[in-house]
Amino acid sequence: MLGVPRDQRTESAECLIREGDVVIVYERHDRMKQATVCKGKEFQNRFGVFPYCDWIGKPFGSRVVGKKGIGFVYLLKPTPELWTLVLSHRTQILYVADISFVVGFLEIGPGKVVLESGTGSGSLTTSLARSIAPLGHVYSFDFHELRAEAAREDFKRNGLGSLVTVAVRDIQGQGFPEDLVGRADAVFLDLPQPWLVIPHLGRYLEGNVPLCSFSPCIEQVQRTCEALTSNHFTDIRTFEVLLRSYDVRTQTFGSLSMTGVKEEIAAENLSQVRKLSGQKRGRDGLKQTEPLVMQGHVLTTEEVTNGKECIPALSSSSDIGLSKNPENTGVERNSSERIVARPYPETRGHTGFLTFARQGSNLN
Ligand SMILES: C[S@@+](CC[C@H](N)C(=O)[O-])C[C@H]1O[C@@H](n2cnc3c(N)ncnc32)[C@H](O)[C@@H]1O
Repeated sequence: MLGVPRDQRTESAECLIREGDVVIVYERHDRMKQATVCKGKEFQNRFGVFPYCDWIGKPFGSRVVGKKGIGFVYLLKPTPELWTLVLSHRTQILYVADISFVVGFLEIGPGKVVLESGTGSGSLTTSLARSIAPLGHVYSFDFHELRAEAAREDFKRNGLGSLVTVAVRDIQGQGFPEDLVGRADAVFLDLPQPWLVIPHLGRYLEGNVPLCSFSPCIEQVQRTCEALTSNHFTDIRTFEVLLRSYDVRTQTFGSLSMTGVKEEIAAENLSQVRKLSGQKRGRDGLKQTEPLVMQGHVLTTEEVTNGKECIPALSSSSDIGLSKNPENTGVERNSSERIVARPYPETRGHTGFLTFARQGSNLN
């Protein structure tokens, strides 16, 4: 079952890949695909051809080599976070930063009952299902029949079928079903016009049940907040969650011959970091658009603009610019490998706004 805690007795057996399992085929952290193991068939990518029968019986996490013995991939066990990266996009989806925030702020945990609409591609639903397992339930609604059916299939393939009910319903037109009144612990909306549903949510939110509505545009947020206010909701808060990912890698630098001269090493390191980060010194000095980070230390503007200023920070082997050479005695000798971290230039920006609220009468 995808990402759901397992019974310890079955854990070791579940760690082995079996016929019919969904596997995340990992090429790089930003390049993964899903595959369903099927004897007699093969997985193909640009690294080669991989017969599924070679995967059966191997532990998840294994590295497997293609038929020609050159290319390789890793076979990972699906989790909701990985699934979000490989699912078929039938709609816009929520990503891990928003999902984490939603799960945390809606206080969703084991045993909870969550109402959701629309289901879309099931990206959020998959995380909700993992969070409420093993005894809770997600009731998810979408008015698009084919999408609902495809999502149902995905939940089943991922072993979440018993935790999620997907139903076809126009939630903006009809609201949630009557039989769910008083049963929800949290309500989540990802709909184009959430303000149409809000006036009918009262009975589902009694008992201080939290509501969250996701909208990509600020105009939608304004209308949502107006509807929340005029329907006496309180504790209304809107957030935009932005994620900044860093690329951490070992980088080869030109060798340094000035053994023992820390100032030279520091200056050299900083000029290399500037080059790596694509930062240029303009007429007004360094144009710093992104923080420079080396081995866990975020460089200050002062350190970046004046290499000598950061020399004290270079005095231990865990600091920036020192090599990973175990024989390193404090100042490196002709070593050239360092761990460098920098933000990805294509960092994902705005996805949407999350508006949270609760019914007014339940708050002091
Ligand atoms: C952006 S998608 C939801 C994506 C989902 N949160 C995810 O993470 O995969 C919005 C969904 O709302 C559905 N939808 C739009 N209007 C609806 C309505 N009136 N009632 C129910 N579903 C609706 C659409 O069919 C679409 O699948």
